[in-house]
Amino acid sequence: ATPAATLTVRADTPGAKIDRRIFSQFAEHLGTGIYEGIWVGPNSKIPNTRGYRNDVIAALKALKVPVVRWPGGCFADEYHWREGVGPRNIRPVKINTHWGGVTENNAFGTHEFMDFAELIGAEAYVSGNVGNGTPQEMAEWVEYMTAPAGTLADLRAKNGRKQPWKLPYFGLGNELWGCGGTMRPEYAADLTRRYSTFVKVPEGTKTLKIASGANSVDYNWTEVMMRDASKMFDGIGVHYYTVPGPWSKKGPAIGFDEEEYARTLSKTLLMDELIRKHGAVMDKYDPKKRVNLAVDEWGTWYDPDPGTNPGFLRQQNTMRDAIIAAMNINIFTRYADRVRMTNIAQMVNVLQAMILTDGSKMVLTPTYHVFLMYLPFQDATAIPVELKSPWYSKDQWVMPSVSASAARGTDGLVRLALTNVDPNRAATVATTLTGVTASAVEGEILTGTIGAHNSFDRPDAVKPAAFSGASISGATLNVTLPPASVVVLTLR
Ligand code: AHR
Repeated sequence: ATPAATLTVRADTPGAKIDRRIFSQFAEHLGTGIYEGIWVGPNSKIPNTRGYRNDVIAALKALKVPVVRWPGGCFADEYHWREGVGPRNIRPVKINTHWGGVTENNAFGTHEFMDFAELIGAEAYVSGNVGNGTPQEMAEWVEYMTAPAGTLADLRAKNGRKQPWKLPYFGLGNELWGCGGTMRPEYAADLTRRYSTFVKVPEGTKTLKIASGANSVDYNWTEVMMRDASKMFDGIGVHYYTVPGPWSKKGPAIGFDEEEYARTLSKTLLMDELIRKHGAVMDKYDPKKRVNLAVDEWGTWYDPDPGTNPGFLRQQNTMRDAIIAAMNINIFTRYADRVRMTNIAQMVNVLQAMILTDGSKMVLTPTYHVFLMYLPFQDATAIPVELKSPWYSKDQWVMPSVSASAARGTDGLVRLALTNVDPNRAATVATTLTGVTASAVEGEILTGTIGAHNSFDRPDAVKPAAFSGASISGATLNVTLPPASVVVLTLR
């Protein structure tokens, strides 16, 4: 028999607002994430606008990316902003010591990033250098970006931008426990207080400061940072990557078997516990939830694609990634009262990317399509769901086969997102609706074999299609989810 789930959608008891920023992105100076992936330069044969590839810009615009985090990652704590402003032909050429040891010509600097963010309609989240930069350098960068007048504003104008930029988010370093300086939390908390003191923006403007957060289950990091420094920041990060194997042998991005698929999904579910437990630590020091828990790096991390520079973290993206994206988004929406930004790693050509490019070619990944399908969840109001799911298991990996979330969009319509993680069996979802009257249901589905992916030869192998497996009658909605599928429904 087809496994059967039951679901109650409680539209009569709306929850928190799902901040659109939980659909944000991360773009680091890493591999071809920026150079080639976003920036090809104004003289490139690849069609571009002021140096930004037109195809990538159009795809990102369609995704309504809320926020982009830049320039790192590990790169941020070695980045010196002055090297990336002024005439491009005289900017210093450095070695990107973290990522592949390649040269970094600084062609993409502050102006290029801010221009890019404006082009795609995203807000800027700039990460400062706490690792090997000074508080003065950081303060001057913020002044350069935001000041209406003064020597640094004049320099900005001379470099092509008269108007100050908006700087809604500023990161106080990245992974200070690791590549950002190998610090103990006590020291990181003290440095966070010190650096934060000098990050000042003009009267009448606001920049939310995000502290460098914990590595996965390091709850003590959050404890110490919240206890000793939370008055000096508005958000704190947490980083968690879904890695199927150990770091030394993570597993391939394609060509994996079902055991590896189930293992990867089972590992991604740790996100729920992480948010709950870091959130509980934060509640002790911030019961009113002023401070945002920003999951500012998340996603899958596999062995690099064969034949690529291992320091470039280039990996294909399959239906497995699409399902993982949906599972994580469903988790984030459950904690919308505390999680107000997340940044998937990374936007183009790196890790769990939205977009892959090769020369002038571009493909949209299954993960891209999931983000597109969830667009109506941006700034929607979360609706609690009660789900009784059958189990999916493979060897020792056991998990609910159905994952769900619901929300009322800014257009007033109720949306239901359902994922069937079981790659072998369909699942029925008998849904009871409370607090919503609808007479019609429509939707989209993304489905395929677990290893299905889009290549440059077959760019549309995995793409959303109209979904006809749902029917509504009064307060009852019946849905049949095919194996390995992500479905988003709209009730009308
Ligand atoms: O996203 C790749 C790297 O992962 C980032 O630079 C770093 O912050 C994390 O360890």
